[in-house]
Amino acid sequence: MSKLAINGGTAVRTASWPRWPQWDEREKARVLAVLDSGEWGGFNDLVHEFEQTFAKRHQAKHCITAVNGTISLEAALRVLGVGPGDEVIVPPYTFIATANAVRLVGATPVFADIEPDTYNLDVEQVEKAISKRTKAVIPVHFAGLPVDMDELMLVAREHELAILEDAAHAHGSSWHGQPMGAHGDIGSFSLQQSKNLTAGEGGILLTNDDELALKLWSFANQGRSPAGAWYEHGMLGSNLRLTGWQAGVLLAQMERMDEQLARRQANARRLNEILEEIDGPTPMRWDPRADNHAFHLYMMRYSPKKFGGLPRERFVEALRAEGVPCSTGYAQPLYKQPPLAPPHSRILPCPVAEQACREVVWLTQNLLLAEPEAMEEIGRAIVKVRENTAELM
Ligand SMILES: Cc1ncc(COP(=O)(O)O)c(C=O)c1O
Repeated sequence: MSKLAINGGTAVRTASWPRWPQWDEREKARVLAVLDSGEWGGFNDLVHEFEQTFAKRHQAKHCITAVNGTISLEAALRVLGVGPGDEVIVPPYTFIATANAVRLVGATPVFADIEPDTYNLDVEQVEKAISKRTKAVIPVHFAGLPVDMDELMLVAREHELAILEDAAHAHGSSWHGQPMGAHGDIGSFSLQQSKNLTAGEGGILLTNDDELALKLWSFANQGRSPAGAWYEHGMLGSNLRLTGWQAGVLLAQMERMDEQLARRQANARRLNEILEEIDGPTPMRWDPRADNHAFHLYMMRYSPKKFGGLPRERFVEALRAEGVPCSTGYAQPLYKQPPLAPPHSRILPCPVAEQACREVVWLTQNLLLAEPEAMEEIGRAIVKVRENTAELM
C-alpha cells in the first residue's frame, strides 16, 4: 500500500469538495431586487413569501422567521411560558445554543443521556429526568436524524410537557412522512452559514398552534398584534425580524433544497454500505421511520481496536491528509461548560454522551454533495490509514 499522505505520500483524494454555501445567478438576482425595492428590512414581501414557502414545505400551519436559531429557541421558550423555577430537559450532546436558550429565559437545563447508536435524546432517560418542575423538553434532531417522536410524544402527553423541537440540523428531515418542526408544539431552525439552508444567519419557528403563532409573531415584532396600530404594544416583545436580503437568498436556496437533500441521502446510504463492507468505523443507525434525514453531519463511531490501537485524533489527522476533511466534534458534554455546569443545571448520568465525545468522527454535509465516486474515495482513504497504522504510532 502506498505511503500515507501525512508522511509525504499522495493523498487518496486530491480534488476539492463542493463549496458551502452554494449560490448562483438566482441569489444575485434576488439580492439586487431587494436593493432596488428600497424595502430592505423585515417588511419586504419576500420575508412573508419565504415564510409561506418554508411552512408549506414542512407541512406546518405557521412560520415566523427570526434573526438566528438561538434567539428563536429563546423566543419559543418564552411563548411557551417557561421561566424562572422551571426545568427543561435537553441532551448534553448538541450545540451549546440548545441549553443556553433555557438559561437565557431563567429556567434550568436538565441533561438526560442520548442513545448510543443515534446520539439523539434517549426517551427512557427523559422520563427519568422529569420532576415536578419540568415544563418542556427540547429534542434535538441531531445531525438531521429525527428523534423518536412516537415515544417522546407519548411521554410529553402523559406528563403534560411542551415539546420544542430544535431542528437546527433538520431542514427537510421527516418522521413517518411528516417533516420535522411541527411534530411538537414549536420547532426551531437555524439558517446560520454552515446549515443545510442558509442566509448567513437567521432562524425559523414553525407551529400548528394558532395562539402560539400569534404570540411568536407578536414577540418577534415588539409585542404588536398583526391587526393593531404600529405604536400599540400589547405584550412584552423584541425585534427578531429577518431582512429582505436574507429572505431573497433563502427563496433561491429553497429551489435547491430538495435536490441537495436527495443527493446527501444517496451518498450517505452508499457511505453506510462502504463502511460496512470495509468493516470501518460504525455509521449511526438510520431509523426507517426517519424517511428523510438531512445529514447536516455524517457521523461515524471510531474504535481504536479496529485500527490497531490508533488513537482517534491520529486517525483524523491521517484521514484529513488523505483529502477527507473531518473532525472529532464536541470535546465534552455541555454540562462541562462553565455556564451550564451545576448549579446552573441538573445532570442525570450521561455515560453515552461522554463516550460520544471520545469516539465520534464528523464529516460535514457539503462532503455528501460530492459526486458518488467521492464516497468510494472516503472508503479507500480509511482502508489506507488502517493498513498503515504502524507509520502513525
Ligand atoms: C443544534 C443547534 N441548535 C441551535 C443552534 C443555534 O443556531 P444559530 O447559530 O442560528 O443561533 C445551532 C447552530 O449552530 C445548532 O447546531
